Amino acid sequence: MARFPDGSAGDADYGSIGAGYALIRQPDPRIAAQFHAALGDARTVLNVGAGAGSYEPLDRDVTAVEPSASMRAQRPATLSPAVDATSQDLPFADDTFDASMASVTVHQWPELERGLGEMRRVTRGPVAILTFDPVPPVHWWLIDYVPELFEVEAGRMPALDRIAAALGGSVDVRTVLVPADCTDRFGQALFARPEQLLDADVRRAMSAWSFVPDEVVQRFLDALSADLASGAWDEKYGAFRTLPEFDGGLRLVVGMP
Ligand SMILES: C[S@@+](CC[C@H](N)C(=O)[O-])C[C@H]1O[C@@H](n2cnc3c(N)ncnc32)[C@H](O)[C@@H]1O
Repeated sequence: MARFPDGSAGDADYGSIGAGYALIRQPDPRIAAQFHAALGDARTVLNVGAGAGSYEPLDRDVTAVEPSASMRAQRPATLSPAVDATSQDLPFADDTFDASMASVTVHQWPELERGLGEMRRVTRGPVAILTFDPVPPVHWWLIDYVPELFEVEAGRMPALDRIAAALGGSVDVRTVLVPADCTDRFGQALFARPEQLLDADVRRAMSAWSFVPDEVVQRFLDALSADLASGAWDEKYGAFRTLPEFDGGLRLVVGMP
């Protein structure tokens, strides 16, 4: 598959949408703790589609793979530089790593089974995939405002069964609840903070919005701004503001050989 000019190798062009990603998508420590537990006692860890390094454990020997130059450039100096490669062809020998991880990236891969097969090939122990169920478990307010966004995501996010089948072995699917003050500001993480979705920088840090037509985004902005200003949003959906956590469909799929 052709890569974008900055090397992006999935369905989204991080040369256009990647700027500012690391600022908006700060890894959340509670999600990180669940992710790291799934890696067991692995010492060497491969992170595929590593981006700016979110969720990379600091107490293990991590090798990161990231095809987009824009995302590689956002990695803090405290993390190792990422290898320029893609999930389809991991440049490592069989069984190189104790564990491997991939965080909200598999939905962008052009060859899902091949990429997951590559992760399994180079990994001796657990392969942990953080992803979203394509079917939202809860009908929530953002679906009412912009169903097109969820139609886009339903077509991109692979079914959890498909991920499990590609990993083979024994697979455990774990629910990851999103805290109301989640520091990683993906769409579902803003369930209690609707105002933040009016910010173009916040939306740009979620690739799904880049697939929604401009006129639909404008309709969403007009409707949400008006409802927040009039109090209609709070009247109908205000209970979301006091939910401590939310099941937005975030899942950790953990495969053992
Ligand atoms: C939403 S970002 C997630 C980045 C990081 N893992 C995180 O959790 O913040 C998706 C990442 O997947 C990468 N990606 C897309 N297609 C890929 C592929 N075929 N192989 C490896 N990485 C890919 C993108 O370049 C991007 O950095």
